Amino acid sequence: MVTLESKYDIFTRLGSGAISTVYLVQNKANGRYFAAKRANSPDKLRYLQREKDLFSSLHKNQGIVTFIESVEDVRAGFPYYNFANIFQYVGGEPLNDYLVNSDQKPLITFSPQEILWISQQLVSGLLYLHANGIIHGDLKPDNVMKNNLDIRIIDFSAARRIGDSQKVSGSLSYGAPEQWDHGSSFETDYYSLGALLNSLAKGQRLGFLDVFNVTSRHDISDKFKEGLSFLLNKNPSVRQKGLGLIL
Ligand SMILES: Nc1ncnc2c1ncn2[C@@H]1O[C@H](COP(=O)(O)OP(=O)(O)O)[C@@H](O)[C@H]1O
Ligand SMILES: [Mg+2]
Repeated sequence: MVTLESKYDIFTRLGSGAISTVYLVQNKANGRYFAAKRANSPDKLRYLQREKDLFSSLHKNQGIVTFIESVEDVRAGFPYYNFANIFQYVGGEPLNDYLVNSDQKPLITFSPQEILWISQQLVSGLLYLHANGIIHGDLKPDNVMKNNLDIRIIDFSAARRIGDSQKVSGSLSYGAPEQWDHGSSFETDYYSLGALLNSLAKGQRLGFLDVFNVTSRHDISDKFKEGLSFLLNKNPSVRQKGLGLIL
């Protein structure tokens, strides 16, 4: 059995979330770098399992991180068969690193062109997932990497296949209002996309109880702002209309 440590050298910690900690690793055979996602505790393994299962039906796509393989991850305190998911290493930072909390002054202002570019990449990645019957379920600034112009959706630990009955929740601040009662859907992904883009336009993270007033920036087109209003609508069935307006 291939183990993480037999195949890869483990370097720095790239980041972490509620489920996992991700490390930069190097394939010993060919010297190439990857990201290894290791569960924070044994009870989080089922989320890594879900990621692994979902990626088995996806091809390489520009807006989405590429899954490479799962390898055994021998660690004290974990079940006999423990594993780590290996992904393409995405340089740059999560979008979250560019944002401040909602009570602080923004660090940077993304230009309308940058926001449009990010929006186009995200819509393309999201539509690819949806076309393959996958709901991301937790689209938010921590789960999108930006490396100059390369924008990639990561973190499929809350994702599910449409038709699977399990209810998976995303994050409180970027999730749609109905998500907590009814679970994720294509429409909750649209809402999260709107919340994320609105957050970028403001340069601020959205807290749990923050109200989603659409940005009032004058340099952002009315069409784009109207798109955000559709995406953030309480009524899930009108959100899809927003997609065509933010491209
Ligand atoms: N492929 C990758 N390349 C570079 N950094 C990554 C990659 N995947 C994850 N990270 C970093 O690790 C963090 C946690 O990864 P994520 O998949 O979001 O785990 P969790 O499910 O625990 O939230 C990310 O926010 C990011 O900083
Ligand atoms: Mg995450």
